[in-house]
Amino acid sequence: MTGQVRGVQLARLLGQWHALPGRRRSPDYAALAGSVRGLLADGRLPLGVRLPAERELAEALRISRTTVTAAYRQLRETGHLASRRGAGSWTMLPGNHRVASTGLWTPLDDREMLDLGVAALAAPPQLLSAARAATEDLPRYLSGAGYHPTGIIELREAVAEAYTARGLPTSADQIMVTSGTQHALDLVLRLALTPGGTVLVESPTYPNALAALAGRRARITTHGLAADAGWEPDLLLGSLRQTRPMLAYLIPEFQNPTGHLMPASLRERVVAAAHAVGTDLIIDESFVDLSMDGTEVPPPVATYDRHSRVVSIGGMSKPYWGGLRIGWVRASAPQVQRLAAVRVGVDMASPVLDQLVAVHLLADAEAIVADRRVQLAVQRDALLGALAHRLPEWRVTVPRGGVTLWAELDGPVSSALARAAEEVGVRLAPGPRFGLDGTLERFLRLPFTLPAADLVEAVGRIAAIRYDLDRAGRQRWREPSVIA
Ligand SMILES: Cc1ncc(COP(=O)(O)O)c(C=O)c1O
Repeated sequence: MTGQVRGVQLARLLGQWHALPGRRRSPDYAALAGSVRGLLADGRLPLGVRLPAERELAEALRISRTTVTAAYRQLRETGHLASRRGAGSWTMLPGNHRVASTGLWTPLDDREMLDLGVAALAAPPQLLSAARAATEDLPRYLSGAGYHPTGIIELREAVAEAYTARGLPTSADQIMVTSGTQHALDLVLRLALTPGGTVLVESPTYPNALAALAGRRARITTHGLAADAGWEPDLLLGSLRQTRPMLAYLIPEFQNPTGHLMPASLRERVVAAAHAVGTDLIIDESFVDLSMDGTEVPPPVATYDRHSRVVSIGGMSKPYWGGLRIGWVRASAPQVQRLAAVRVGVDMASPVLDQLVAVHLLADAEAIVADRRVQLAVQRDALLGALAHRLPEWRVTVPRGGVTLWAELDGPVSSALARAAEEVGVRLAPGPRFGLDGTLERFLRLPFTLPAADLVEAVGRIAAIRYDLDRAGRQRWREPSVIA
């Protein structure tokens, strides 16, 4: 058990639980149970938490206790709830499940599902030859113990060279190899954040970064991105000056989920403002390689750093393959040494063989990344075309890189849509996953990492259920009217 959710909290998470499509055909208890399953599926209700007592939830939802009793009974029958007399009921999941990179729980054997919850590509064809070549290299390492807390030197050199090629001179002792970018973030937070310290993040932002921050007990404050324009320079700099956070976590290149690219002028101003107020910047460069339409990427944020305020993190997952689990940190050499000291208390080092695979992929970076950009542009355009055709009321800003677009819906229905989409074989990560406090119901992240035909099929299914949602009772999703 990891905690308890109170009746009012669960009621807030459940939101419009009675407004699911088909609601008129299904009884209240079934709609309630379905909504709890939806919250579990999209990760907003964690596993192993204790649900409120039936009476408490009934009061919070202003429904009869028998409805809650019947809903809990159904959840027990479907394997989503475990109860012990006198001790309460805990959330769980039935059967075999895996956790997707968005934090969503997904069934292992669900091959029919079009998974738009994960913003990552399948492996490139070059991966197998890189893996074979890596096994040929392995004997060079076998006479040692194999622990390299900062990473094997060949990979650190290759990553350093890539930074240097981007106009940011970097030496191998400024690089630490990690097991993915997420791991890099967690290690940096262990070093740079004291519990209760304030961290500024974009809203919306990458959900697993929010999870990492919550895990380190950060106090989170947000800078809201404009749907069409991204960062509002004066507001962002104003937030830094007023909040004086310990850290700021930003994704300047093709931001996840919005796809925005931070201009050079703002990069320079952010670094200067951060230094003036004593804030350290964690710059997540996960998507930096994936520009499209000939878009030029501005210099790395760290280019403007004169005081070791900027720690950059990145990795192989987006341009190459998430299954490699290779990421890195770029920082000053002394910071890398401190990170390595933290790291030996966590996982000691990353696997040598996987690092060798990464070395071979990076040696072929130009060709692999060029293919990825072409593939992503084709898929993005297919997704945009399908949206324009099937859901013309939705508004999207065309991303010039990355792997996601951030759609503004025609109503605050993102969670209801994600729940209903699951029923027609499409997995979605609804807007609220990308923010705090259950806001962003008007938005949906759509990755274009699946083949074009799958994206078109997914949009068709989403469009069909979108109109079903309307038939299930449009009234419920009107904006609340102001009473003054
Ligand atoms: C912005 C951002 N940071 C970090 C990650 C995690 O990357 P990795 O698979 O390298 O841990 C992702 C993956 O989606 C991401 O979008």
